[in-house]
Amino acid sequence: MISYCMQAGFFQFNTAFGRKQENLEKVRSAARDTSPDLLVLPEFFATGYQFISRDEVADLSEPVPKGETTEFLAGLSREKGIYIVAGLPERDGDIFFNSAVLTGPEGFLGRYRKTHLYFEENLFFAPGNTGFRVWDTKIGRIGIMICFDWFFPESARTLALRGAEVIAHPSNLVLPYCPQSMPVRCLENRVYAVTANRTGREQRGNTQALTFIGQSQITSPQGEIVVRAGIDDEMLGTADLDLSRARDKKLNDFNDLIKDRKPALYDS
Ligand code: ACM
Repeated sequence: MISYCMQAGFFQFNTAFGRKQENLEKVRSAARDTSPDLLVLPEFFATGYQFISRDEVADLSEPVPKGETTEFLAGLSREKGIYIVAGLPERDGDIFFNSAVLTGPEGFLGRYRKTHLYFEENLFFAPGNTGFRVWDTKIGRIGIMICFDWFFPESARTLALRGAEVIAHPSNLVLPYCPQSMPVRCLENRVYAVTANRTGREQRGNTQALTFIGQSQITSPQGEIVVRAGIDDEMLGTADLDLSRARDKKLNDFNDLIKDRKPALYDS
């Protein structure tokens, strides 16, 4: 079988709430020495996660693609010749979305708005209305889901059915389950996943403290954890992905993971 290789990476770090410039600079310096073909950054990587008022959300959200963060990412993509998937709070008129953008050497390529909102995100953000999206790029077919989307098997399945070979998964995980669950998501769909989580803790105002679990990882179509960061590591983790492993859905001469499905027997 012919190999189709690319290098993918995640940058795991401790975002400082509200200090956008500092967070953007951290990403710039992480990408200085290592620039994988696809770099995935955490959910809300430049702003922090725990918003406590609508005013604060309005203050830190940006239009896409004409906002500071998307322009920064598009510039970095162009400069390094790489693709980047990164999470940010998006403002669209007076509606806010928990979004992720894809940029490449050719500039801004598109956005995904998080479908399954987690916990207090429901206070400030609207559920995504883009649906699950896959981009056919020069380095491979990239699909996006954001953090808690992983909990719903339909997210990864839909991306796989739409042709994703790699799922870019910006995250701010607080529950412990995702790192050991992604091997099953990848195995059942025969896709790679790059989960980029953050580290640290936020407790803003009188809200419940959130401790982020780190453990960003790259998972293979065979369910192997190819690289995993520690709970508190600030690191850029990379792996070489052979996309032919994601294109081949056959388990053996009789079973194909996509063709063997029986949608008529499944409830929606
Ligand atoms: C999450 O979706 N940020 C847990």
